[in-house]
Amino acid sequence: MAKILVTGGAGYIGTHGVRSLQQAGFDVVILDNLVYGHRALVESVLGAELIVGDTGDRPLLDRIFSCHDITAVMHFAAYAYVGESVHDPAKYYRNNVVGTLTLLEAMMAAGVQQFVFSSTCATYGVPQEVPIPETHPQAPINPYGASKLMVERILADLSAIGAIRYVSFRYFNAAGAEPDGSLGEDHSPETHLIPLVLLAALGRRPSITIFGTDYPTADGTCIRDYIHVSDLASAHVLGLKYLLAGNPSDVFNLGNGQGFSVQEVIEAARRVTQRPISVLLGDRRAGDPPILVGSSAKARAVLHWQPQYADLETILTHAWHWHQRRHG
Ligand SMILES: NC(=O)c1ccc[n+]([C@@H]2O[C@H](COP(=O)([O-])OP(=O)(O)OC[C@H]3O[C@@H](n4cnc5c(N)ncnc54)[C@H](O)[C@@H]3O)[C@@H](O)[C@H]2O)c1
Repeated sequence: MAKILVTGGAGYIGTHGVRSLQQAGFDVVILDNLVYGHRALVESVLGAELIVGDTGDRPLLDRIFSCHDITAVMHFAAYAYVGESVHDPAKYYRNNVVGTLTLLEAMMAAGVQQFVFSSTCATYGVPQEVPIPETHPQAPINPYGASKLMVERILADLSAIGAIRYVSFRYFNAAGAEPDGSLGEDHSPETHLIPLVLLAALGRRPSITIFGTDYPTADGTCIRDYIHVSDLASAHVLGLKYLLAGNPSDVFNLGNGQGFSVQEVIEAARRVTQRPISVLLGDRRAGDPPILVGSSAKARAVLHWQPQYADLETILTHAWHWHQRRHG
């Protein structure tokens, strides 16, 4: 059974990735520094081996690669707060770029070639067309997106000399939770719309603020592409199998191909939760494009990826079950 090193495997998307790998029959070792990860989910829900440490720790990485027969690395570990990246760019370049480069160097030294990378739609910046294809120019407008684009460049260069073979996934907005309610989103601080709306429905936040109601969209609020976290996770297993089958490095968007406005998400959450959700209207935030929707046609065609939970109410229902269990 092939063994996969999953960095950031104690985080939101990483825990779902680990679950999908386990279900597909892979052995998993998690490396997570637990700055944002959840030890309890790894130990009591996933039952996977957890190494607490940092991707920037080269001696630790060398020990991991010499003690474990690692076939491939799935790299979820990163900092991902866009606003924080604007105020503290060095933190983002150190963790997301230097940390990843250290990991890649350790892989090369150990002769491990296959790498699945969590990139982001934030590498595109303000879209010139929607749905955004992978060929769209990449012009990130914040250090977080720039840090991910730098890693994409590093990967392309390492792949060109045959040192690494990779799949980069540019995710749109990850949302939802494991359908059985055992895993889900628990960021602290939380900045994502769906958990914020559901925490307001639970009474754990007084209200939800809509940033900008005068965008050129039907109801004036921003439109985003929400992709179920379990569908992201299944794509990662397909991406890994694609690499294990010897296919060349490539980049894929992962989104729903369908956008929902902030207002639509709040209305759907009211229907799903049957709870009142109070809303405050705020000003636009700098750097928020009006519409971000991705085309995932390439992942469907090449990887034969088929999202199971594209429907917004299903995404919200699964997230609601998780939040009720976690915080109710
Ligand atoms: N959540 C989204 O909508 C979204 C969208 C696009 C891309 N991404 C990317 O997906 C990945 C996972 O995001 P998430 O939402 O699950 O975030 P998360 O914060 O829940 O998970 C990241 C995990 O990585 C760990 N980590 C961070 N830096 C580390 C390091 N140097 N060494 C070891 N562990 C480290 C954290 O403790 C955490 O457990 C990130 O790379 C993020 O940039 C997320």
